Amino acid sequence: MTGGSGQSGATTTRGQLVDRFGRAHHDLRISLTDRCSLRCTYCMPAEGVPWLARSTMLSTDEIVRVARVGVALGIREIRLTGGEPLLRVDVVDVVRRLAAMTTPDGAPVEVSLTTNALRLPALAAPLRDAGLRRVNVSLDTLDRARFLELTRRDKLVETLAGIAAADAAGLHPVKINAVAMRGVNDDEVVALTRFAVERGYQMRFIEQMPLDGGHTWDRHVMVTQAEILERLRGAFRLDEVPGRGAAPAELWTVDGGPATVGVIASVTAPFCGACDRLRLTADGQLRACLFSQAEVDTREVLRSDEPAEAVDEGLAAAFHACLAGKKAGHDIDDPTFLQPRRPMSAIGG
Ligand code: 5AD
Ligand code: SF4
Repeated sequence: MTGGSGQSGATTTRGQLVDRFGRAHHDLRISLTDRCSLRCTYCMPAEGVPWLARSTMLSTDEIVRVARVGVALGIREIRLTGGEPLLRVDVVDVVRRLAAMTTPDGAPVEVSLTTNALRLPALAAPLRDAGLRRVNVSLDTLDRARFLELTRRDKLVETLAGIAAADAAGLHPVKINAVAMRGVNDDEVVALTRFAVERGYQMRFIEQMPLDGGHTWDRHVMVTQAEILERLRGAFRLDEVPGRGAAPAELWTVDGGPATVGVIASVTAPFCGACDRLRLTADGQLRACLFSQAEVDTREVLRSDEPAEAVDEGLAAAFHACLAGKKAGHDIDDPTFLQPRRPMSAIGG
């Protein structure tokens, strides 16, 4: 390497996280816990969640170590997920340590978080001070009774307070995620978008994926991107924003902008071809995809008695083994498709 501008693709990607299909991976999603303070129907059963045993969960030192190896290999962005990541008692510390990392080019690692917002009134400012850049908040409805039905907890007011706290703390842009569900909240697409536009947040609708603990997903019941756009176009002028890159959301400006609304069409318009994401579960399993059937263990490597250097080499090998098994796409439409064995809450969104 000349250390110059890196014009040659082969040079810039050598030894890095490139899979069999040429996709370079820059984004690591780390699940901090599988516990959650809500029970969203599309994610968790009401009761009887088989929680991960505490002893199998990675310590903060272990998470930081896996992340450091990932960053040395090309990870530039880290998103913390759950379950509900803010239920981890030392989440501020985790953020501080991850945000202090730099890429081999000297750029700071960007740390963001996907949350249900319930703990944000207390944590938004400390998280920002620790180096957190942004939050994605899940909010599927603005109706209190519906919120209770959907999440099985009466926490709409607290969720809205958490969103306002993120905004006040400057965790911009605040992104709001809603899973669109027929007969449940599909009539709120316009109201949710208005709520977000008025406050300067970005609304994003997600096609429901087969990830629910109860295995009730049905392709024909799912609300599609086309339907979401049709509803939105009944109320707003939408203009497509070009240049999506590896981002899952396709964006449209609302009534000429600057506000935008996004749709994450994981099922009807999969974006696997540009996927740059890897996942680490709270119990230390690397996954190439939400829908992977295979996982690569880092815990045994981390807890071995090998010298530090050998552990780091073992972790790098785990990243490469995970990538080697990454498939071209999720194949949700294939008759042989199998739901992942873990529920979404134990994988991380
Ligand atoms: N389909 C689509 N999105 C889901 N999420 C959770 N379960 C599903 C599912 N079955 C989303 C939540 C949250 C993020 C963590 O993942 O809306 O925003
Ligand atoms: Fe909790 Fe998020 Fe799952 Fe809802 S979708 S139960 S907020 S982890």
